[in-house]
Amino acid sequence: MTKTKTQTKSKATKTTPAYRLRRSRVHGSGLFATRVIPNGVQVIEYVGERISHAEADRRHADKADDDGHTFLFTIDAKIVIDAGVGGNISRFINHSCDPNCEVVLDDGRPFVESIRAIAPGEELAYDYNLTRSDDDSPEVAKVFACRCGTAKCRGTMLAPPKKPKRKGSARKKAAAKAPATKKAPARRKRAA
Ligand SMILES: C[S@@+](CC[C@H](N)C(=O)[O-])C[C@H]1O[C@@H](n2cnc3c(N)ncnc32)[C@H](O)[C@@H]1O
Ligand SMILES: [Zn+2]
Repeated sequence: MTKTKTQTKSKATKTTPAYRLRRSRVHGSGLFATRVIPNGVQVIEYVGERISHAEADRRHADKADDDGHTFLFTIDAKIVIDAGVGGNISRFINHSCDPNCEVVLDDGRPFVESIRAIAPGEELAYDYNLTRSDDDSPEVAKVFACRCGTAKCRGTMLAPPKKPKRKGSARKKAAAKAPATKKAPARRKRAA
């Protein structure tokens, strides 16, 4: 019988948590594996208050321009999860440009899943792929500067710049496979 994601899910929840919170060299606090987490395991659900993009932007409107800290996670064009309200420990998972986890949407609910085997003591991380806007200032990459320290670090938690559009099915396939992303806090336009 084909092994499905539903079968691996139950494994993840059977004992004590496979992760714990501690200080991270990347940023603030992070989540670290307490034992081996095999590839393909659903580790934790990213939970929090489900709000609109407008509400998410409003909540972050008071932040300083150079404050890139966010607990927001984009589900789709309508819904954002604010893990700052009612969130669990998953909100402390940091970004990496060479991650060991990814976030998979299951019926609109985001689950952090391992994409390779993770050793005890290793920090859990996924690629935030923060959304870019057409009116981003040139300094935006610095505001969202990445300190993951991996050989593949692209220097920013923002998604890689979009490549010029090409016709064909490869592009459609890539879009269909695009992972769920963190939401970048609204950026105020700078005065000229
Ligand atoms: C959801 S929080 C993660 C938990 C965070 N370490 C904390 O203690 O609050 C996301 C924020 O952590 C910071 N962060 C996460 N990964 C980072 C990275 N690779 N480089 C720099 N800052 C990072 C950014 O400020 C980001 O907006
Ligand atoms: Zn990086």
